Amino acid sequence: MTAPMLEFREVDVFYGPIQALKKVSLVVNEGETVALIGANGAGKSTLLMSIFGQPRAAAGHILYRGEDIARRSAHYVASNGIAQSPEGRRVFPDMTVEENLLMGTIPVGMAHAQEDMQHMFDLFPRLKERRNQRAMTMSGGEQQMLAIARALMSRPKLLLLDEPSLGLAPIVVKQIFQILRELAQSGMTLFLVEQNANHALRLSDRGYVMVNGEIRLSGSGAELLGNQEVRDAYLGGH
Ligand SMILES: Nc1ncnc2c1ncn2[C@@H]1O[C@H](COP(=O)(O)OP(=O)(O)OP(=O)(O)O)[C@@H](O)[C@H]1O
Ligand SMILES: [Mg+2]
Repeated sequence: MTAPMLEFREVDVFYGPIQALKKVSLVVNEGETVALIGANGAGKSTLLMSIFGQPRAAAGHILYRGEDIARRSAHYVASNGIAQSPEGRRVFPDMTVEENLLMGTIPVGMAHAQEDMQHMFDLFPRLKERRNQRAMTMSGGEQQMLAIARALMSRPKLLLLDEPSLGLAPIVVKQIFQILRELAQSGMTLFLVEQNANHALRLSDRGYVMVNGEIRLSGSGAELLGNQEVRDAYLGGH
């Protein structure tokens, strides 16, 4: 039996008068890869960010390995094994690849920094070639790899990814998903937000579909790929 790593129980989140999450409940089990798919504005990024308390849940519970973290600080959450590769990559533009990677160790300290940086260079050879290049001068795909590698530098137990394929060419999307597959096979727990439902659901053990701040559907990756509503709304009829 696998244990829940992350659990949302009836979570509400508001931006002022606007309710962005409505009684959201979901589970990500240890070792699983889970996808959250949904249209623009559905609330996917809000859900990921609420894990770090930014924005805060107004009601409900967010459990991480059984502990309610809904009122904890972002630093507490990050230093206890959750890392995020944020939407839009958000690498530090003026910093080099190496400096960006070192920023990823902030929640946990520098003890493993050199070893882990070598590991990232094995996983992403392109970053090794560009280790002294400033992030802002790198291609979109390279910046996405850097954002993922930076998140991995804190040795997370749970890796959150917000649209890792956004705006990238198909070949780069393939490379990124191949690396995510390797991470999943290494035993890491992945929770992935995507508009690229096809890639995301093929990678994932299970998925959830979010519509207007609510979870509309859930099922195995294969079930959702075969679901007519999902096919019509998120798979372009393929
Ligand atoms: N800081 C904010 N202040 C006010 N409203 C916000 C804020 N951030 C998000 N929202 C609103 O909350 C809703 C959900 O936004 P969110 O960014 O979570 O959607 P999303 O599913 O990630 O969309 P996308 O696929 O475009 O990234 C939207 O209606 C958005 O306008
Ligand atoms: Mg988003």
